[in-house]
Amino acid sequence: MENILITGGAGFIGSHAVRLLVNKYPKSAIVNLDKLTYAGNLLNLTDVEDRPNYRFVKGDIVDGRFVFGLFEQFAFDKVIHLAAESHVDRSIANTMDFVQANVTGTVNLLNAARHFWKDHYEGRRFCHISTDEVYGSLGDDGLFTESTPYDPRSPYAASKAASDHFVRAYHHTFGLPVVLSNCSNNYGPNQFPEKLIPLFINNIIQKKPLPVYGKGDNVRDWLYVEDHALAIDTVLRKGAPGETYNIGGHNEWKNIDLVRLLCQVMDGRLGREPGTSEGLITFVKDRAGHDQRYAIDAGKILRELGWKPTVNFEEGLRKTVDWYLSNEQWLRQVTSGDYQKYYRQQYEER
Ligand code: NAD
Ligand code: DAU
Repeated sequence: MENILITGGAGFIGSHAVRLLVNKYPKSAIVNLDKLTYAGNLLNLTDVEDRPNYRFVKGDIVDGRFVFGLFEQFAFDKVIHLAAESHVDRSIANTMDFVQANVTGTVNLLNAARHFWKDHYEGRRFCHISTDEVYGSLGDDGLFTESTPYDPRSPYAASKAASDHFVRAYHHTFGLPVVLSNCSNNYGPNQFPEKLIPLFINNIIQKKPLPVYGKGDNVRDWLYVEDHALAIDTVLRKGAPGETYNIGGHNEWKNIDLVRLLCQVMDGRLGREPGTSEGLITFVKDRAGHDQRYAIDAGKILRELGWKPTVNFEEGLRKTVDWYLSNEQWLRQVTSGDYQKYYRQQYEER
């Protein structure tokens, strides 16, 4: 019997991690702590919500007293920390939310783990989920490794880098059994349509312009979200305390090439003339400080823990498109209300 706390489990990656753990470990108690911000959605978890080994708690990791109370109530052995403000564009518009959730929230969780584990670290793990953006931006060549120096360049990346530093500092200073992972861009079902792929799927459905930033020549390394969930479980179970593991898809795409492929897949699925959706591509003002290229060397996690991606990109993209097309109610729900205001501010008034 083990008690696992997952923070941010109602979000995109968190909901896939919750589903994996609830199904794979029926004897473990999984508590999902989520504030349910605009990005958190319990509709992501309806298939597991009644499971006896699963419990949802609504709460804010920024509230240190609340976090302590939760540790007291559930006696967690393991923490998988995903809760964060996660969208780069929002971090440019509203940085303090990122400092609060990503830095203060992380330190609150570290303090609670340290206090309740009281130096009895056997069987305990604090698994911190981070991003490749902390390493900065690459030119045409090279890959991020675990020893690439940190060089965060957006407020989001800076807040994640700060949280990573605190996690490592708690290991170094207090011996807390932490393990970190830094992952590349995820895609798949349940991603909030502010990120490139779901935003463009939604716009294609509605025949709205597809706003490609700058020249569309920025490069990202894409990983199917279920592969990331498997990697998180691997790092939690097999990762060595104090170690960092990079996670990536070995799957680099220039934005414009990815968007063209997505347009082709969508035209096929929607029964539209080939080329229809490409006609919606519109080049717009670039993101401020837009990082040129991210690419991960995921060799360490393969060599030391045996994880590698299993879903190829064309297959993953088709699965993703099919999920959004068969979940239009989900899409309608998350794009009503505040989303419209966000969309206007981000794309029409900038
Ligand atoms: P998301 O925005 O979809 O979900 C974040 C979740 O955290 C939401 O459910 C939200 O309600 C919750 N949350 C936010 N602030 C909170 C708070 N103060 N207290 C409690 N809950 C709070 O994000 P995601 O894309 O699923 O990313 C999850 C984690 O993985 C983040 O830490 C992110 O930095 C990291 N990550 C994401 C990607 C990616 O491509 N999406 C890649 C690498 C790493
Ligand atoms: O690399 C990991 C990171 O990937 C995660 O840590 C972040 O949480 C996640 O949001 C993601 O960050 P990006 O900024 O790379 O993702 P986004 O989907 O916002 O953008 C992907 C690329 O597409 C990027 O080069 C910007 C571009 N883009 C994005 C949007 C939303 C556009 O051209 N137009 C858009 O409308």
